Amino acid sequence: MSAYELKNKTVLVVGGSAGIGLEVARIAVELGANVHIASRGKTKVNQPLSQATYHECDAKSEVSLAALFSKLNRVDHVAMTVHESAARLGIDTTAEKMNLSAAMEYADGKFWSQYRVVKAALPHLAPDGSITLSSGVASRATMANHSAISAVNASIEACARQLAKELAPRRMNVVAPGVTATTTYDAMPADAREQFVQRIAAVVPLKRIARAEEIALAYVFAMQCGYLTGTVLDPSGGQLVA
Ligand SMILES: NC(=O)c1ccc[n+]([C@@H]2O[C@H](COP(=O)([O-])OP(=O)(O)OC[C@H]3O[C@@H](n4cnc5c(N)ncnc54)[C@H](OP(=O)(O)O)[C@@H]3O)[C@@H](O)[C@H]2O)c1
Repeated sequence: MSAYELKNKTVLVVGGSAGIGLEVARIAVELGANVHIASRGKTKVNQPLSQATYHECDAKSEVSLAALFSKLNRVDHVAMTVHESAARLGIDTTAEKMNLSAAMEYADGKFWSQYRVVKAALPHLAPDGSITLSSGVASRATMANHSAISAVNASIEACARQLAKELAPRRMNVVAPGVTATTTYDAMPADAREQFVQRIAAVVPLKRIARAEEIALAYVFAMQCGYLTGTVLDPSGGQLVA
């Protein structure tokens, strides 16, 4: 078996029913993994990848996560692509206009949800297994109206560095996607969304936003590369050098 294959590995994608997570699941299926997808509601009505097993689970609930992992037993690789949409919460705004309750909901849905998944996964994670978290390019790129979003994403990367040391030989990495066309922007009015996309495309050296499958490859690489831990992978179209 090739070192890169995921054949017979159990891969869990928390947040895999849509967007980037769904593409992570799709690639893992192609590479021969037994893929499990966990998310809250959409799994009931929409199961777009027939080879995966779907679980209804809320990463905001420790009880829900414990039930999920007791069903899975042992897991080789966990990828997390959960978040609360910043666009839906309206926290892509200035500090003056920031609704702090909404900002805290974002932190809970993105940082603490991923932390809860890590905590629940550890007793079930294979000794040579890996966990890959999601942050975002705004952790380090300066972007208008991104102060709260940036802070949460940077905290994920800081936490992962600590955890990489704590959890070794199990591996811990982060993917920091650039702006990517996914369902997360469905909450925005179409004209505002288009303006946002054009603004990002103008600054990014590759002159466009990302496709979900391009970002998904970084999560799969983090599973495959047995010598990768404590790192942040930056598929951002070059935005960090813009
Ligand atoms: N798209 C971008 O431009 C971009 C940029 C930077 C960073 N990122 C990060 O990349 C990751 C993936 O983003 P995306 O755009 O692919 O997101 P998305 O299209 O909104 O999909 C999010 C997924 O997470 C699930 N989810 C949300 N909350 C959950 C919870 N509490 N428990 C379980 N599942 C939950 C959703 O399903 P349910 O609603 O059914 O639960 C869905 O499957 C996120 O962490 C995001 O912050 C994205």
